[in-house]
Amino acid sequence: MKKIAVIGTGYVGLVTGTCLASLGHKVTCVDIDEKRISSLQDGHCPLHEPGLSPLMQSNLLENRLQFTTVLEEAVQGAEAIFIAVGTPENKDGSADLSYVKNAIENLSLYINDGTLIIIKSTVPPGTNQKVRSWMQARSERTFHVVSNPEFLREGSALNDFFYGDRIVIGSTDSKAGQFLEEIYSKLKTPRLLTDPLSAEMIKYASNAFLATKISFINEISSICEKLGGDIEQVAQGMGMDSRIGEQFLRAGIGFGGSCFPKDTKALVQVAKETAHPFNLLSTVMDVNERQKNLLIEKALKRYGSLKGKNVAVLGLAFKPNTDDIRESPAVSLIQRLQQLEANPTAYDPVVKSIPFCPVSDSIHEVLTGADFAMICTEWSSICDLSLDVYETTMKRAVLFDGRNCYAPEDFEGRNIEYHSVGRQAYEGLRENKKTHKH
Ligand code: UDX
Repeated sequence: MKKIAVIGTGYVGLVTGTCLASLGHKVTCVDIDEKRISSLQDGHCPLHEPGLSPLMQSNLLENRLQFTTVLEEAVQGAEAIFIAVGTPENKDGSADLSYVKNAIENLSLYINDGTLIIIKSTVPPGTNQKVRSWMQARSERTFHVVSNPEFLREGSALNDFFYGDRIVIGSTDSKAGQFLEEIYSKLKTPRLLTDPLSAEMIKYASNAFLATKISFINEISSICEKLGGDIEQVAQGMGMDSRIGEQFLRAGIGFGGSCFPKDTKALVQVAKETAHPFNLLSTVMDVNERQKNLLIEKALKRYGSLKGKNVAVLGLAFKPNTDDIRESPAVSLIQRLQQLEANPTAYDPVVKSIPFCPVSDSIHEVLTGADFAMICTEWSSICDLSLDVYETTMKRAVLFDGRNCYAPEDFEGRNIEYHSVGRQAYEGLRENKKTHKH
């Protein structure tokens, strides 16, 4: 059992703190946000993350997990301090390290000799070195800074913590690395011990590679649409090659979330600073921007103008099993619909409201009277919805599916027009074709 402090109670900090407590450590999470801390102290989990709330509450009850706003209290006697503060995007796309710097400067007032600082926040390669110099400038104490990036996916973060693919430990000091190994000793996850810069790069390169896979399959899907292939079959066939792998080959309206868009941009900036432009990755981002507009393009082609159309937007979260709408393709889709003077109304099973568009938790309500529907998130409540519902609630059922939730064959004999990604459109029953335009 180790005594651990975690600075930052955002997504990464809260999941990491809770899971470390579940491994048997005594963890204190600290944040400057008083409201957040007092609600966490009362056992309220602010995130929609499956399994997190009960785990947090049981650790609170067992006294393994504590929350405070007082940094000194959190780090007193702590053998390891995890930095899990945000690294938002600067205007030029680079990562803003001011929260990390601030945390280190505050920490410099309280550390003891030999303190172990572990960087969990996603930071550009070279940050470990910067953290060391920030600390050295303020403190005479000896300390070690280890880079230990996280690979948690929203919606499956607990599983990813306890049964991840790898634990990456970047350290210049073998003892410090060893100590971190002890913290994770209960986990059977494979370890990779490396230098700090490589550890930092592993995180960025992994996210950039996955983003590239998505933009790649999206490019193939556009060509399939033009030539007449089926992207689902193509992705399946590609994925059967173990060198390629089947994951992250789902074509759709692009990637969103707090990591991929931000980290790809930041890596492009890092590359620029080394005078080695990462053109491939810049294109990955361009493809993703274009992909976000795909359903609108299809609707414009279908209707000519979207002015005055009532649109049911199905799904707001950037992916299922989260309430996170950061960089969600659904959000840009709604904004574009509004620019085109359409009237969007959104359904999402967990996102209850957004400032610029009405939201309902009843899919029937949103579909009723809609001119067409657009699927943005593959929630099971959307993908498992009986096609009868579209037929019975909509004026003339027209569905634009941005996540390929249905198979075109499902529509055979149905009174529904179906447009999806990287596959041919199904135009509905013959008699409806006459009323196809407007
Ligand atoms: C990602 C990384 O997977 C994780 O390791 C890292 O720590 C944080 O960033 P996350 O942002 O939670 O995790 O979501 P992820 O499941 O990776 O999906 C990201 C986006 O890509 C979503 O918008 C999703 O819809 C999209 N996506 C994913 C696709 O469009 N197609 C795919 O095949 C896979």
